[in-house]
Amino acid sequence: MIDLESVQSHLPTFRPGTVWLVGAGPGDPALLTLAALHALQNADVVVYDALVSEGVLALVPGRTSREYVGKRGGKPSARQSDITARLMELARSGLRVVRLKGGDPFVFGRGAEEAADLARAGMPFHVVSGITAGIGGLAAAGIPLTSRLTNHGVIFLTGHVTTRDAAPVDWRRLAGTGLPLVIYMALGALRDIVAQFLAAGMAPETPAAAISNATLPDQRVLLSRLERLLPDVEAAHLAPPVIIALGANVALRAALGAGDDPGFRQVRCGPTGLVPAGTDADGAARHGHGFNIPILRDAELP
Ligand SMILES: C[S@@+](CC[C@H](N)C(=O)[O-])C[C@H]1O[C@@H](n2cnc3c(N)ncnc32)[C@H](O)[C@@H]1O
Repeated sequence: MIDLESVQSHLPTFRPGTVWLVGAGPGDPALLTLAALHALQNADVVVYDALVSEGVLALVPGRTSREYVGKRGGKPSARQSDITARLMELARSGLRVVRLKGGDPFVFGRGAEEAADLARAGMPFHVVSGITAGIGGLAAAGIPLTSRLTNHGVIFLTGHVTTRDAAPVDWRRLAGTGLPLVIYMALGALRDIVAQFLAAGMAPETPAAAISNATLPDQRVLLSRLERLLPDVEAAHLAPPVIIALGANVALRAALGAGDDPGFRQVRCGPTGLVPAGTDADGAARHGHGFNIPILRDAELP
């Protein structure tokens, strides 16, 4: 059996004068990787964003200094160039610097820009991947990201695609893939996103979910359909961060029995009876779960 100490002995050495870009995962500290924990425990300074949870920060030793560079009280976040300059300044003074980012540093988190700046400056750095909200958040809400019954792929999208400075989006092409979409940072542009997908031909009854504070104690899961998503989200007053899931895989949630589990803190809005009723006790036994799993047939899926 491999013990934790021997795993740690295989982790890279955190050398003074280097920067580690570390993914903090979606919030639940149990979802940190061993490498991330190792980085936090060996850092001299941790430079962190708004999305890093209290539970993860609690794992930073008391002797380690912390610098917050996220948004504060409605003010804009620190400029990217200032953050990178600060990381370099700290590392050049001989410190082990952790740049701690929510989720995965390379998924909609500007980690690529920071890494490129560090590389350009010849600053040694190392990347520790984290569980991204679009994967860990959906799992925590009981929504399988893929299933042979519903989808052979998935598209990760940022809601910022609707801002003026972003490249134009081919909504028809996105909708036409039939693949589920997982949309980050979608709250501000949700009206536009829904309108674009409906105009692009996506079925109004496409199952939709909005997951607020995924993996955290105050997680909320709102189930809806594309056509009702905006009013449902507005009525539920979901607190950010929120991740949106759109597609047939969202309806599989009911098949996992997640709808009956109070641990999922479900908020059900609008008509969502998308998964055929009927349960299969044998199936439940086969899968080793404590709840019945409805049988899904391809033809019955939305
Ligand atoms: C700037 S992006 C950072 C994404 C991050 N790098 C990741 O891999 O998850 C921020 C967006 O991620 C999503 N997000 C991050 N953490 C979340 C959580 N715990 N619950 C729901 N959404 C989350 C939200 O859509 C939020 O607006």
